[in-house]
Amino acid sequence: MTTWCDTTTAVQVVKSGDRLFVPGRCTTPTPLIEALVGRGEELRDVEILDFMSFGPAPYLDPRWVGHFHMRTVFVGESARAAINAGRASYVPVFLSYIPKLFVPGGPFPLDVAFIQVSPPDKHGYCSLGPSVDATRAAVDYAQQVVALVNPRVPRTHGDSFVHVSRLDYAVQWDGPLYEVERQAPDQTQLEIGRHVGELIEDGATLQLGIGAIPHAVLQALTDRRDLGVHGEMFSDGVLDLVERGVITGARKTRDRGKIVASFVVGTRRLMDFLDDNPMVELRSIAYTNDPQTIRQFDHMVAVNSALQVDLTGQVCAESIGTAQYSGVGGQIDFMRGAALAPHGRPILALPSTARTTKASAGNMPFELPPREGQVSRIVPILTPGSAVTTTRAHVHYVVTEYGTVMLLGRSLAERARSLIAIAAPQFREPLERAAYELHLLYR
Ligand code: COA
Repeated sequence: MTTWCDTTTAVQVVKSGDRLFVPGRCTTPTPLIEALVGRGEELRDVEILDFMSFGPAPYLDPRWVGHFHMRTVFVGESARAAINAGRASYVPVFLSYIPKLFVPGGPFPLDVAFIQVSPPDKHGYCSLGPSVDATRAAVDYAQQVVALVNPRVPRTHGDSFVHVSRLDYAVQWDGPLYEVERQAPDQTQLEIGRHVGELIEDGATLQLGIGAIPHAVLQALTDRRDLGVHGEMFSDGVLDLVERGVITGARKTRDRGKIVASFVVGTRRLMDFLDDNPMVELRSIAYTNDPQTIRQFDHMVAVNSALQVDLTGQVCAESIGTAQYSGVGGQIDFMRGAALAPHGRPILALPSTARTTKASAGNMPFELPPREGQVSRIVPILTPGSAVTTTRAHVHYVVTEYGTVMLLGRSLAERARSLIAIAAPQFREPLERAAYELHLLYR
């Protein structure tokens, strides 16, 4: 039985000590979050499992320590300071695995799930819209489900449907979804996109994340034919290639003719494209990110990024030293899946440098001092405390604006030489010196 009510009544279902799922990105249910935090004084030890939420996260305020504790599987901008101050927690986990956390007897069974859905159709089915991801499993396993029912949520196809009878509490809501505008690539990103584009053949199936590099890659593909999309997410950049007839999915080994992802982040234009569009299927993250699914696509190309890569090919994509920056995400799911796919290409694409405002303390082993406000992302060894997101045995192609190298089957010395060749020119000589000191290279 569904109780239709206001937000204040709906969030009464949350009790002290409960474990609560809060979905993220464009459909983050901010009115429910605000109503919950409005009850903060009477609640203790509510654990909030966050999946990349957008907008304000008032439960992170220091005054709510002991009342709310956020655990997130991916550290976004709003959570970064709280995580690194110890007021919230980061949970390293492959995105493909998150649904297994929620099963009865699993490590994080859920008492309550907050969701935001489209209004029920004539058969009583609401849709999770652009955020199916782990929200699907949260709806399936949580003891109680509380929903904002919003006509602006697009009715997506796939694993997105939730019958209205599954909603314990429902609140009518009519408010805009969070939007993310596309970032125009700069010259460096366009160069990276051009190099990555050279590795993508007609008929390939692509996984691209969000951000300027994926947009730059898509811009390099306008003359390709019959590309397919199978990823954890996509954003507005994909629309242009659909409209030009480049993305058709016609040669996909599975889900032929369909764009498949688990969540979508973008503008209203993209949400309108998703609405009741049978070309797009949003599936559970347990399906999209399962390496056993990904490996079935002939010519699967996975493009992921990194913060640092060491001279042997170890990749850090989630922390800057000990400071947690983002999360494991789907990186290993897709790098491994693409490596196993017939003619698959796992690609790590990153700018050779990053901006820094800090002067180097110079006290880290093999630390390369910044030059002209830039640090090298290709480093002799990862900054102590960095998380290894992708191991060196998983890495195949590495691309910077200076070119592409292939590390699979290469020795440590060959890797060091290759990676130095695509580092920024001003860092190549100190990198080479460090490689000798580390006994990666011998005279
Ligand atoms: N040292 C110091 N600072 C660094 C750095 C380094 N080696 N590398 C990056 N930074 C800084 C940048 O200068 C930038 O700072 P700013 O925000 O002040 O400009 C910030 O860190 C982010 O770097 P950027 O290159 O802009 O990151 P991005 O938005 O392109 O994201 C990842 C790159 C690696 C963080 C992101 O792809 C990620 O989270 N990956 C893990 C999950 C994943 O791969 N999922 C699958 C695809 S969806």
